[in-house]
Amino acid sequence: MFKSIEMAPADPILGLSEAFKADANAEKINLGVGVYKDAAGGTPVLKCIKVAEAKLVDTESTKGYLPIDGNPVYGQKVRELLFGADSEVVKEGRAATSHTPGGTGALRVAGEFIKNVLGVNTLWLSDPSWANHAAVFGAVGLEVKKYPYFDKASNGLNFDGMIEALKGVGEGEVVLLHGCCHNPTGVDPSVEQWEKIAEVLAEKKALPLVDFAYQGFGVGLEEDAAGLRAVVAKNKELLVCSSFSKNFGLYNERVGAFTIVAEDTEAVKKAQSQIKVLIRRIYSNPPAHGGAAVANVLADADLTEQWYGELAEMRERIAEMRKLFVAELDKRGVKLSEAGNQFIVDQCGMFSFSGLTKEQVEVLKKEHSIYIVGSGRINVAGISEKNVGKLCDAIASVTGAAV
Ligand code: LMR
Repeated sequence: MFKSIEMAPADPILGLSEAFKADANAEKINLGVGVYKDAAGGTPVLKCIKVAEAKLVDTESTKGYLPIDGNPVYGQKVRELLFGADSEVVKEGRAATSHTPGGTGALRVAGEFIKNVLGVNTLWLSDPSWANHAAVFGAVGLEVKKYPYFDKASNGLNFDGMIEALKGVGEGEVVLLHGCCHNPTGVDPSVEQWEKIAEVLAEKKALPLVDFAYQGFGVGLEEDAAGLRAVVAKNKELLVCSSFSKNFGLYNERVGAFTIVAEDTEAVKKAQSQIKVLIRRIYSNPPAHGGAAVANVLADADLTEQWYGELAEMRERIAEMRKLFVAELDKRGVKLSEAGNQFIVDQCGMFSFSGLTKEQVEVLKKEHSIYIVGSGRINVAGISEKNVGKLCDAIASVTGAAV
């Protein structure tokens, strides 16, 4: 039976990491997968996590199973970060959280909940969206539709097109929104635009699903939650999939969360009981270590302060690299849009939607050992003072600009 199985195509994002690893070129540059890199090209463990982990090793007394939805302290901390410790949702107990294996695990649980508990068949994604979204939701049998999002001409948000499409969403259908630092475009709605989006979703009685994987990578932890909070203010029911992979640098510990907000405590309890049934039959209960490290940082005021500092450092380095990238492109006469390259500085978060074509991305990989996602999405965190010259020379050569 196995002999007839065909080779699957490589994953558009994680497959690039494999190809990068296998590339013998000492000058290779990885701008593919969304992993933060420091100026030296490393992804070190955050210092606050190192301290929390050391404490954990000292005090941990058992490796017994966690509850199906994880450690309740972790869940509480997740909700406080999402909605604010003083928010009505937190105070009234209208939300419940499940610790999931990463943000992707949260999306899968969300998909199962939408399809198998709510009985909803349709989910709307932004065009474009994270390369794995359609696959995750398709895998649970949801029909995936797209609403316009990115405007190529302005390299900004096609807000009118988006609103128009959202007005056509059916009652109960799910609309996925990127909470901040839109992946792959780096283009986010303004707070006023978020309010309008939230209003339209409420009018249409659609169910918002906010994918919130980059909190703290845009403007700041609180500022980045403004969109989500605008949605919460107008919609009594919603779903949130969040992740600590990026903002705590806990990629391989798989620390994510699926949070459901309902109209009242009774409704949330019932929904959570169903979510636990779903989780039990997928992965039973979550891995403990990463979530415990996060909960320990967030339960300690000094470690939390340290985390804010480390997160700001990552965010600020990315912003600096955007400016450096644009300066070096300008120096070489490369224009990635008709209006120039300023749009790269204006984009937000880890990614830049560079406008490079699939063909140019292919040449960059084959001839220059520079790895970029096929959509032209660049992980700006992978740029450094050391590699920016080579990167921009190569981009100049594939775009036909003078070097
Ligand atoms: C990305 O978009 O690169 C990250 O979210 C990592 C992943 O799993 O694709």
